[in-house]
Amino acid sequence: MITINQETCKKCKFCIDVCPCNVLRINEKEEVCFIPEREVICLKCGQCMAVCSTKSIKVNGFSYDNDLIDLPENNVDYQNFIDFLANRRSIRNFKNKPVSDETINQIIASISYAPFGAEPEKVNVTIVNNRKKIESALPHIEGFLDNIVKWIENPVASFMIKRKKGQETFNTIKNHLYPIAKLENYKLKFGDRITRNAPAIIIFHANKKAEEHTNNSLIYATYVMLAANSLGLGATIIGIVPAAINKTKEVREIFQIPVENEAVISVIIGYPKYKYKRTIKRNVQKINWID
Ligand SMILES: Cc1cc2nc3c(=O)[nH]c(=O)nc-3n(C[C@H](O)[C@H](O)[C@H](O)COP(=O)(O)O)c2cc1C
Repeated sequence: MITINQETCKKCKFCIDVCPCNVLRINEKEEVCFIPEREVICLKCGQCMAVCSTKSIKVNGFSYDNDLIDLPENNVDYQNFIDFLANRRSIRNFKNKPVSDETINQIIASISYAPFGAEPEKVNVTIVNNRKKIESALPHIEGFLDNIVKWIENPVASFMIKRKKGQETFNTIKNHLYPIAKLENYKLKFGDRITRNAPAIIIFHANKKAEEHTNNSLIYATYVMLAANSLGLGATIIGIVPAAINKTKEVREIFQIPVENEAVISVIIGYPKYKYKRTIKRNVQKINWID
């Protein structure tokens, strides 16, 4: 539901223009009005409220005081932005220094500014700022990786994974995880090569049926990683942990992920042990310009 204060509305129609779902129109009295039949497709993105110069439009559940903030003056320019991105590395070596809950809250707050598809609030964020708890999951994650070797080397199990999880996940397991597991790269006898002694991990998960939860989780994880960097922390996106959560009851229980939820991605964070001297400029994308 969207309400419009007709007394203060200047009828500039900016709200109509910016609405991605066309839930607003001009009525016979030349007033901006809400189209109730289209409520079902309203994304609640808040764009109409963000653009209104007189704060005349209100999406139900949002308030100008609590949910909309004036734009900060100091937007980054391109060079600062690129420098910031260039300064990010996946960090897998951490100082033995805890991260405060307050800092983690600052990091998580960045998600509020992320784009989203469908229902943003359907993604759950579980914060484990407890090294002991993370360590208690490691032997089970190691067991999950051992199983990957067995599954891939067994044609029936292999076929079932492909059928159940699809070709993309199967290829990731076969071509990426299997060789790593086969070479025992993640064995705990070499130390923690799974969560890298990180003091904290943030896990993104959602009900398996929730719309766009995979895409939203990946975007949120990216924001979290960049926010950590901006605060002088280091982070790495970790795909192994959610994979283990989804397949291993013990890991799911340790991280208290509800059974109906699918873990999508996780991010380890902590204070970096090393300062990198240079960045790596990659050409990983295939770019096609179409005339
Ligand atoms: C979807 C995804 C899953 C990842 N999973 C892991 C992981 O399980 N363990 C790990 O050490 N790094 C993981 N990474 C981090 C990548 O290995 C890393 O981004 C890559 O090596 C490039 O290095 P850079 O981030 O320093 O540029 C993952 C990254 C992505 C995007």
